[in-house]
Amino acid sequence: MSKVRAAITGIGAYLPEYILTNEELSRMVDTTDEWIMTRIGIKTRHILKTPGHGSSDLGAKAVQMLLKKTNTAPEEVDLLICATVTPDHQFPATANIISDKAGIKNAFSFDLNAGCSGFLYALSTGTKFVESGMYKKVIIVGAEKMSSIVDYTDRATCPIFGDGSGAVMLEPTEDPEIGIIDEILQSDGAGRVHLHQKAGGSVKPSSHESIDAREHYIYQEGQAVFKFAVSKMADVAVEMMKKHKLGPKDLAWFVPHQANNRIIEAVGKRMGLPMDKVMLNIEKYGNTTAATLPLCLWEWEPRLKKGDNIILATFGAGFTWGSMYLKWAYDSE
Ligand code: UT7
Repeated sequence: MSKVRAAITGIGAYLPEYILTNEELSRMVDTTDEWIMTRIGIKTRHILKTPGHGSSDLGAKAVQMLLKKTNTAPEEVDLLICATVTPDHQFPATANIISDKAGIKNAFSFDLNAGCSGFLYALSTGTKFVESGMYKKVIIVGAEKMSSIVDYTDRATCPIFGDGSGAVMLEPTEDPEIGIIDEILQSDGAGRVHLHQKAGGSVKPSSHESIDAREHYIYQEGQAVFKFAVSKMADVAVEMMKKHKLGPKDLAWFVPHQANNRIIEAVGKRMGLPMDKVMLNIEKYGNTTAATLPLCLWEWEPRLKKGDNIILATFGAGFTWGSMYLKWAYDSE
């Protein structure tokens, strides 16, 4: 009997309606469309404006689309993992709330925080549950209301982030031509000084002082993060290619975390890939943290073919980074 692998068997996604343009941002802070396009490569990002709505509402919409597309009844789902850095609450887990909102009653669910690598780490975790043979339908969701932690008076961070969600279904397969094949995942907590949220956790609980000091927003030292992102993402993507003897011609697609167009181009170059094999949608959605990878897969789904060799790679807060190699499981109808 061949090894049981996990395969992605469907994708759903959701983007909130409101579109924040560079023109609108340039009325809020001292910036220009030209600076944002040249330095980052973002034109627009979607923002969740509905009062009282959080990441779970974004995640639940992606999961509902996924259930519909894969003809899955909510009761059939065994496990749901939500990757997010913008949970609805400190507790309970946003995954529990998404499951409730999507009518998923027979599953266990939990959150996973690995910054912008959250979806990749969660995909790896879900894969292990499927490979164990105990779980047949596992949903991995990346859901982020980044606008809830962006300081819209800080021009260095506010153009970067957007809200959105994406969800994939993982199911077992014994077909050797498809499924999730390998992963290289790494982290280095020493990188936390360059990218973090200063207050609101147990080290510095929320207080009048922390609010006044604007410490509940994203703190990022952009240049330091940029350098690590290029070298670490390229290292693991190139290592994955070498390990599986994959040349640029063998790869159908590269799916990079969408943080900065220049980072993506530099990584693609080190992999020897032409840009037409690199999924790129940062211009429309910005950096949606744990949602960037499933948003790419969702958008490219109509073009993906069974057996396509795909490498995913991410870099994010922690620092966390990694790559995964999979063979796409289905042709779109
Ligand atoms: O997803 C998690 C991982 N995150 C990342 O991968 C992000 C990595 N970092 C980056 O993408 C880039 O470093 C940023 C986009 C954050 C910043 O771009 P940069 O090219 O590294 O700019 P910089 O921070 O070196 O700033 C250059 C100049 C500065 O002005 P001075 O000091 O040279 O006069 C900034 O004040 O650009 C200025 N600047 C801006 N100017 C216009 C910073 N933000 C803006 C802005 N508009 N929005």
